[in-house]
Amino acid sequence: MPVATTPPPATPAAPPPHKWSRRHLLGLDGLTAGEVRALLRAAAAYVPVATSTQTDTQELAGRTVATLFFEDSTRTRTSFTLAARRLGAGVVDLSSGASSVNKGESLLDTARTVEAMGVSGIVVRAKQAGAAELIARGVSCAVVNAGDGKHEHPTQGLLDLLTLAEAHGRQDALDLSGLTLVIVGDVVSSRVARSAIAGARLLGARVVCVGPPALAPASLAALGCEVSGDLDPVLPIADAVMMLRVQFERHEGSESLRSPSVPSPREFRTLFGLTRERADRLKPAAVVMHPGPMNRGLEIDGEVADGPRSVIRTQVSRGVAVRMAALRLCIG
Ligand code: CP
Repeated sequence: MPVATTPPPATPAAPPPHKWSRRHLLGLDGLTAGEVRALLRAAAAYVPVATSTQTDTQELAGRTVATLFFEDSTRTRTSFTLAARRLGAGVVDLSSGASSVNKGESLLDTARTVEAMGVSGIVVRAKQAGAAELIARGVSCAVVNAGDGKHEHPTQGLLDLLTLAEAHGRQDALDLSGLTLVIVGDVVSSRVARSAIAGARLLGARVVCVGPPALAPASLAALGCEVSGDLDPVLPIADAVMMLRVQFERHEGSESLRSPSVPSPREFRTLFGLTRERADRLKPAAVVMHPGPMNRGLEIDGEVADGPRSVIRTQVSRGVAVRMAALRLCIG
């Protein structure tokens, strides 16, 4: 069935295979397909360790990882901590509520202070897009971006790719060509979507972003995805549907949520919510994803989130393996 979308620009030629040799993981945009595959292969190898309670490795024994979270997190922060411990590293955790950032210290000075105490890697989450790169330029240790504003969330993108590859039996080749990933909702605010689009395109998938123009503007096509304002015609072509939370906190003071195209949460749900009736119209093998946190009953119904198509708990589980890979490759 033809789907009316805004097409992306032409895809550049695939870069040559590559191994991982970077000091930092700041985003998936700008990596090569070979680098993404190197991270995913390492993550896949860590899955047995990440999902076991007994088999920690000692690959980063004697190293310390600092987690600097200047924005709330449940999944990312916990899984980075578990990942570092599973690799044998020590972890120091600094949250915005308990750091001298509250006294006016800058993010960079905070990172440099922590580095001076002898940490080997800094995991940083911040409200400001570009914060991880700013810190990476100012310290010598490895920096892993755990989400910077609306920019990128590369380890989330990687765990999404690993989950998608596993769900469709592509975990060995790590080639997603022929698959269509549909991303629905507040795409414009979503660092998760930016990383997922970059990574999925590198591995050959088609990506279609769906939402009202205020949340999924046609300009997103510059990222290499297609854009549609209508979910129902897109459902039958999806091999995976990723639902996104409407990030009300990032729209504060903006006109976008008062736009006629997003008149109310109830109408958002009516037009774009993944209800059971919509999920029933997906291909038999299509899976449902959500990076969390979810607004059950708004962008996704509880029975879909907990239903047989859902790989949401697998996403969370793969987060530990992916973060082990990111820490090991950047620090080790
Ligand atoms: N997906 C994600 O980043 O979740 P947290 O904000 O809980 O870390």
